Amino acid sequence: MAESREDGVPDEDPGAEASRAEAAELTEQIERARDAYYGQDTSLVDDATYDGWMHRLEELERLHPELQGQDSPTLNVGAPTTSALPPIEHAERMLSLDNVFSPEELRDWCAKTERAAGRSVRWLSEAKIDGLAINLRYENGVLVTAATRGDGRVGEDVTVNALKVAGIPKHLDGEGHPPLVEVRGEVFIGIEEFERLNAFQAELRDRAVAESLKRGVDEERATASAARRFPAFANPRNAASGGLRQQLDKKSGLELEAGHERIAVLGLYVHGIGAWERPPVNAQSEVYDLLQEWGLPTSPNTRVFDSVDDVLERVAELGGQRHSLQHEIDGLVVKVDELALHPELGETSRAPRWAIAYKYPPEEVQTTLLDIVVSVGRTGRATPYAQMEPVRVAGSVVRQATLHNQDVVKAKGVLIGDTVVLRKAGDVIPEVLGPVVERRDGSERAFVMPEGCPECGTPLRAMKEGDKDLRCPNARTCPAQVRGRVEHVGSRGALDIEALGEVTAAALTQGTGAPLDSEAGLFDLTIEQLVPIEVTVRDAETGEAKLDDKTGEPVVRTPFRVKTGEPSKQAQVLLDELEKAKTKDLWRQLVSLNIRHVGPVAARALAQYFGSIDAIRAATRDELAAVEGVGGIIADSVIAWFEVDWHRDIVDQWRAAGVRFAIPDHPGPGAASTAGGVLDGLTIVVTGGLEDFTRDSVKEAIIAAGGKASGSVSKKTDYVVVGENAGSKAAKAEDLGLTILNEAQFKKLLDGGPDALA
Ligand code: IVH
Repeated sequence: MAESREDGVPDEDPGAEASRAEAAELTEQIERARDAYYGQDTSLVDDATYDGWMHRLEELERLHPELQGQDSPTLNVGAPTTSALPPIEHAERMLSLDNVFSPEELRDWCAKTERAAGRSVRWLSEAKIDGLAINLRYENGVLVTAATRGDGRVGEDVTVNALKVAGIPKHLDGEGHPPLVEVRGEVFIGIEEFERLNAFQAELRDRAVAESLKRGVDEERATASAARRFPAFANPRNAASGGLRQQLDKKSGLELEAGHERIAVLGLYVHGIGAWERPPVNAQSEVYDLLQEWGLPTSPNTRVFDSVDDVLERVAELGGQRHSLQHEIDGLVVKVDELALHPELGETSRAPRWAIAYKYPPEEVQTTLLDIVVSVGRTGRATPYAQMEPVRVAGSVVRQATLHNQDVVKAKGVLIGDTVVLRKAGDVIPEVLGPVVERRDGSERAFVMPEGCPECGTPLRAMKEGDKDLRCPNARTCPAQVRGRVEHVGSRGALDIEALGEVTAAALTQGTGAPLDSEAGLFDLTIEQLVPIEVTVRDAETGEAKLDDKTGEPVVRTPFRVKTGEPSKQAQVLLDELEKAKTKDLWRQLVSLNIRHVGPVAARALAQYFGSIDAIRAATRDELAAVEGVGGIIADSVIAWFEVDWHRDIVDQWRAAGVRFAIPDHPGPGAASTAGGVLDGLTIVVTGGLEDFTRDSVKEAIIAAGGKASGSVSKKTDYVVVGENAGSKAAKAEDLGLTILNEAQFKKLLDGGPDALA
């Protein structure tokens, strides 16, 4: 039974089994996003989506407490889950800051602090630098280690890279340094340097794409891979983190630009101290003076004030200079200057009571809404999005933003031609806030949601009552949907075909002479069908055909043939990869069928239990629903999918072309679960790099053997496999006294289970 929330809205509870499947999918998505954020400095999703996932997972765990394992992401908030860098324990904990968001709140905080101090205090105001916190440990004036903040107690060792940052001295100037002092500061990248770096990364990406294209990789895949190697940093914080935590042999623009010697684009300002037995000063501002004498860089934006009014004036002043400073700031930090008051005021579990961050609101800019166009995705959803006069906001140029559906367009009240206010939600995803009505001149026009699909003309409709999204119901032949499904077949979570990305999918389904009108013929493609395909090159923004400068004719590409008319390398690579895909794992083949709700997690469960697509197709709803990790919603979806004749035709045609659709030697439905794998019931964490496995393949191997591959170490973890450059997880495993395996031992475990280790 679903509980009701206090606001009377019942929680959506799809039932225990479906909840389990949903929770598993959410956990996987959240862990992937966290790995990318903390491990690769990229944001896979915007903050709101991430928060939505976390919120939904919490809700499911509240309704079904048995779903919450000790390693649930809801119990491990914020701390990095993966790191290739060795852990370093800080001598004194690194705290964070509490926030206020308005002058009134700041005034209240100052008043409260003065009450707690029992007198008026002297304030220090500083810029809140948008960078990455670092802890520099100096012993007798020599830098011993540099570490990131991590979870506040244990950070990552970045000493080697830190020594390349301008402003981090190996030896302190002067004399009489204490035996131990921890200096805390913010590593940042300047605004100009940030732009230069991103331009340089773009150049490296172009070069990498050109290389991959030569090897026959699909253009979109090549672009994605280049973007991973040479990312466009979303904001200066990510760039600073990328620079500080990058592997030294991984050449990105950060190093190349300065000839490998320095990560010269990064800088440091110190903003505090950690362990220090007897600082010979009385005030935080005096700490900065002393650190400066030692050769450490202090910020020019620090001020001391006696009155709260002056602090508030400074808030406004610095706010006005926000975008003209050397580096990005996301607020202003107010601290009590007198050090004697710090221990008196104390701290909470996460932040000191003697400091506070005043956060400036996200940057908003104005631009012109040129048009609202509607695009149709793989599932037929028709999404209006705003096309705007390009404008710079929070560190990058924005041209487009989703408007979600026609109700959102209406609610925002924007007209085509309006001047609109734009910001980046969570400083990543651009969002149109609304129109500047005063700027209207009467030439603006309302957006009208098209009645027909922009790609195939079929009338759009809501699929369920109350659904705000309109969809194109022509799933079978709508070019946008066919293109999307063909692209999905090649995606990483499905058959992982490098040569089959967005661009190739479009060429195969919509180019001149395109051989596919559905995905059914994908595995029958021949070189003769590929060679004649021609694609008109279009402008990425307007969608209009590009014209040749000289002839004025549309520019045409022939991805599958070279000038002489011979097949291109890409054509052969595509056919070879399709051939290989025919015998890939059953679960991948299931995912590639585009069955609603059947992602990698559900597909693995179905594949392992039933062993073949025929067994899945023959199963009843109840048999499907009873499988661990499947449940009613997914079962219904599978049944509904097989009821459609053209879906069954896809399976039949793929099979006739040689797609295996089975696990060889599988003993038949249910046998796998009763017989059990060698890792049945065991939870395994892998940390660090292994020689013979990738991150994905090691997970697959564990799951295939019946085990659970988890992202974080807890008491419930059975084995921790430690590879190259393992991070804090290995240390935690040791602390907890868990069984630690090297790669060779892990292989034994995979082959023969725990007995093989004895
Ligand atoms: S003081 C115990 N001062 O903001 C006080 N922090 O949101 C700890 N930050 O973790 C921090 N500029 O990485 C302080 N002038 C400044 C800062 C600053 C940026 C960062 C710091 C901290 C985070 C909290």
